[in-house]
Amino acid sequence: MVDNRSLAEKIDALKKEKNAVILSHYYTRPEVQQVADFVGDSLALSQKAADTDADIVLFAGVYFMAETAKILSPEKKVLIPDSDAGCSLADSCRAEDLRRFKEQHPDSMVVAYVNTSAEVKALTDVCCTSSNALKIVSALPADRKIIFAPDRNLGDYIKRVTGRDDIMLWNGACHVHEKFSVEKILQLKNEHPDAKVLSHPECRKPVLLASDFVGSTAAIIDFVGSDGGREYIIATESGILFELQERYPDVVFLPVPPEDGACGCNNCEYMKLVTLENIYDTLLNETPEVTLDEDVRAKAEKSIRAMLDMSF
Ligand code: 13P
Ligand code: SF4
Repeated sequence: MVDNRSLAEKIDALKKEKNAVILSHYYTRPEVQQVADFVGDSLALSQKAADTDADIVLFAGVYFMAETAKILSPEKKVLIPDSDAGCSLADSCRAEDLRRFKEQHPDSMVVAYVNTSAEVKALTDVCCTSSNALKIVSALPADRKIIFAPDRNLGDYIKRVTGRDDIMLWNGACHVHEKFSVEKILQLKNEHPDAKVLSHPECRKPVLLASDFVGSTAAIIDFVGSDGGREYIIATESGILFELQERYPDVVFLPVPPEDGACGCNNCEYMKLVTLENIYDTLLNETPEVTLDEDVRAKAEKSIRAMLDMSF
């Protein structure tokens, strides 16, 4: 059996030989984040994918993220180590259902979270991520109704903060973030009264209301740096703990466990499908490769570029 160190060295050599870059989300395994050239949240990853000069982009993350890279860089070879790395949130919005809903609301604009398929992005006016959703929705014309898809929790949060009640929410959610319950947070708060609660906006409303800070993965990481506290209760996927602990080794991070009776833990099993072994095989064999219908890609690109243009 090959150990992680020698696999990482072999991956490094292949990257150089093939002019490849590895982009990874914070939710992947620690050893995967360590071989990546860039680790970020969804927004930063899409910005990186848009301006890399590598010939091959290997996306250590879930499928919609690799698709986003391909949409933005169609001339590059985009690889994903496991094409079964899906996303429950992306799966909760099918393109044919969104198309039908749009037909019923022809005057609306569609804002879709990047956690969607290329087909859904092709039906979207402007994409958003958890980093920029507030900024994007706030910048849209006040006289246009908005269809916000697919995350009902993020959508409801945006609706409350912006005060725009003309937002129609899609009924989708992430199975990992929906598992956090306010009871578990209050238990932890009881044991650690000085700890601030930091949560991702995909969590349910009671969790967000019990939080001191709500933000994307990158925003949570940055918040700890600027806040300078000693203890934090973290309500998001467990992969973030690696970066938090690396950056702030003296700080205590308390992950919120899922509610009683919920199966699994606060891991996204799709993100954890990416391993050093399948990264190596994928780079070596240059497969599985992400491919897209050109018409869908070109339409999807418009909604992502609209987001990137509004994100500065
Ligand atoms: P970020 O926008 O924080 O990267 O979130 C992506 C994601 O999949 C959250 O579950
Ligand atoms: Fe999708 Fe949830 Fe996993 Fe993020 S954590 S990739 S939203 S299933």
